[in-house]
Amino acid sequence: MASIGSSLLGITARLSGADNPAVLFELERVSLRRAGAPVLCELSAGLPAGASCLAGPSGSGKSTVLRLLDRLADPESGVVRYRGEDVRDRDPLALRREVGLVPQLPALLAGTVEHNLRFAADLAGLEPDVARLLELAGLDATFAARDAAKLSVGEQQRVMLARALALEPRVLLLDEPTSALDGRTREAVEATLRDLRHRLEISLVLVTHDLDQARRMSDWLVRIDAGRAVAQGPTADLLDGAAVGR
Ligand SMILES: Nc1ncnc2c1ncn2[C@@H]1O[C@H](COP(=O)(O)OP(=O)(O)OP(=O)(O)O)[C@@H](O)[C@H]1O
Ligand SMILES: [Mg+2]
Repeated sequence: MASIGSSLLGITARLSGADNPAVLFELERVSLRRAGAPVLCELSAGLPAGASCLAGPSGSGKSTVLRLLDRLADPESGVVRYRGEDVRDRDPLALRREVGLVPQLPALLAGTVEHNLRFAADLAGLEPDVARLLELAGLDATFAARDAAKLSVGEQQRVMLARALALEPRVLLLDEPTSALDGRTREAVEATLRDLRHRLEISLVLVTHDLDQARRMSDWLVRIDAGRAVAQGPTADLLDGAAVGR
């Protein structure tokens, strides 16, 4: 694997700058400890508009990075920027309406699936098309009346995706959104995500363990290991090993 230094220099040259519309998120020397132990160690990475993936071993800090992007946590040092602006300068609720996070573990409200889809949308003054949202997430319309507590984990994951879409986000942060799905359902969700990206121009940041999924879904890949970005660049280049560290 190429040196961290060269990959960061490369990304700085290619991606940084508040006036560069291609840069969606930048993390600059971000550090964070949990329970006294380092979780992120001066992590620097750029994520362009479009679709990017974060990949790395279990416990390397991927979910933590997504939480920083949505201001569900703040780093102890370093800066996180969204479209060139320090996320701490933005209203967190407004940021989370624009940048939707689909967490790794489903966390649905008690009640029906429809209640879950309407709840946050109502607060935001939006009128969700429940059947359409379910369809986008690969669920048929009968799910609307189902009790959210009685769904499989894979079904709950898809309701979480539909719920995030109900807020009409510009960016979706997806934490292993297909980890509990079988191959056919995974393909349906991946097709939905590609469609959202191309038709609605929603940018995606996808955490995955599956490098084949990274190849199918993203143009830009950041590999995280032990709380650091150890390589980043165009997905095809990184996975082919041709230009690791660009
Ligand atoms: N609230 C917390 N308290 C203590 N440690 C935490 C907390 N949240 C995360 N950690 C630790 O931070 C590290 C990174 O966690 P994170 O969830 O970001 O990893 P991950 O790369 O998403 O892993 P996985 O692939 O298993 O989901 C892990 O060692 C985890 O135990
Ligand atoms: Mg995780």
